[in-house]
Amino acid sequence: MKTVRIGLLGCGTVGGGVVKLMRRNAAMLTARLGARMELAGIADRSLAPDPSLGVSADLITRDSERLVTRPDIDVVVELFGGVEPAQTLILKALDAGKDVVTANKALLAEHGDRIFKAAARSGRFIGFEASVGGGVPIIRTLREALAGDRQRAVYGIVNGTCNYILSTMAESGAEFSDVLAAAQRSGLAEADPTLDIGGHDAAHKLSLLVTLAFGVALKPGQVHTEGITKVTMQDLAYAREFGFTVKLLAIAKHEDGAIEARVHPTMVPSRHLLAGVSGAYNAIYIQGDALGSTMYFGLGAGEMPTATAVVADMLEIARMRLVGATEASDHALGYPYSAIKPARVKPMARVLCQYYLRFTAEDKPGVLGRIASVLGRHKISIASVIQQERAPQVTVPVVMRTHECYERDLILALAEIRRRKIVKAEPVFIRIEERL
Ligand SMILES: NC(=O)c1ccc[n+]([C@@H]2O[C@H](COP(=O)([O-])OP(=O)(O)OC[C@H]3O[C@@H](n4cnc5c(N)ncnc54)[C@H](OP(=O)(O)O)[C@@H]3O)[C@@H](O)[C@H]2O)c1
Repeated sequence: MKTVRIGLLGCGTVGGGVVKLMRRNAAMLTARLGARMELAGIADRSLAPDPSLGVSADLITRDSERLVTRPDIDVVVELFGGVEPAQTLILKALDAGKDVVTANKALLAEHGDRIFKAAARSGRFIGFEASVGGGVPIIRTLREALAGDRQRAVYGIVNGTCNYILSTMAESGAEFSDVLAAAQRSGLAEADPTLDIGGHDAAHKLSLLVTLAFGVALKPGQVHTEGITKVTMQDLAYAREFGFTVKLLAIAKHEDGAIEARVHPTMVPSRHLLAGVSGAYNAIYIQGDALGSTMYFGLGAGEMPTATAVVADMLEIARMRLVGATEASDHALGYPYSAIKPARVKPMARVLCQYYLRFTAEDKPGVLGRIASVLGRHKISIASVIQQERAPQVTVPVVMRTHECYERDLILALAEIRRRKIVKAEPVFIRIEERL
């Protein structure tokens, strides 16, 4: 029986899951492949032998450079994370004729051009299913199952930490900082959560989804990115009154040859499928021209869900190696690498959206009228207003929902409202996606 030999870089959370799954499902994987997949080496700086996992001392090495070029290794599975040395090792592995599997979304989003180009040049494949949505099979779905359709839009809940924080705030009534602190204590948020709560992790994933869905290259820096740190309980409560739920959405739309790409807190109708995705779950909702809407849901992180995606990539690559399918290697992104051109990005100023607005105003007659008149002058019409009871406090929230308008007009209107001192604090706005 033939054997495909795996070199693993990193045996932490995901790498450990891969080792367990390969052992647990060894007979099934052999049956599926008609060949054996064998773990031939693990590079990790702190791993100790573990007989219960079949990790013997002779499997472990501290010399990752040697592992990725070893002649007996067929596939390198990169689960170190971070940019370096992961990038150099992947490039070396490709150069040495190995196929590569990685879960490293930050690396692919920022430096994917070098890596995919090197893979295309060497005729090797890059499997990266685990890099978006963890265990949710969205990469393969966009690349293969939906390849016959033209995609219009992608809406993703792709960061489990943010989704957990927002849904816990909505359920418990606790404020952002308290929920974040609790999530850090329970291991659901990193000690340094900046990448997650700042929206950057979601932007990395969106840039990969854009290429798969629309066949154009987009850097994370081209994604308009806002995190969830400014979302308050008060806004979640008003959202509910309007019939909306707030989610951190990664949104990409393709219209008239331009790509709209943004990550920000978004109000979605509470009856929509995406609104029901709570806790650390992920979901990617795709609107296709011919198929219509479909949604892919599941755990976007964690040892075994993520390992499932990695092992599926290993299996796919092993199959290709066994039949010698190097021509298929250049389609890891769903298009030949050379066909992927830079995206033409629609500026945020030209994005059309409905908005939730909250102003802090003095409790005096006429304030609502003055706000409405500035908005009107900027071609923004109000769809509904939440009227506060007269209260003893000096300031009251004035909360409203607009009809669709251009973001440029909204920004100009809010600046004028501030400049003319009609309100007492920076106005709050949250974008609404109603026509999902
Ligand atoms: N965790 C998830 O749920 C998840 C989900 C989707 C994607 N991913 C992606 O999967 C990748 C791995 O994540 P993870 O959570 O498994 O990370 P992790 O738990 O930190 O595991 C990484 C392992 O690699 C080792 N390592 C890192 N750099 C090394 C180096 N230069 N030399 C030797 N050993 C090195 C680490 O050793 P030390 O512990 O000594 O540093 C650790 O054992 C990342 O790209 C991540 O973004 C993770």
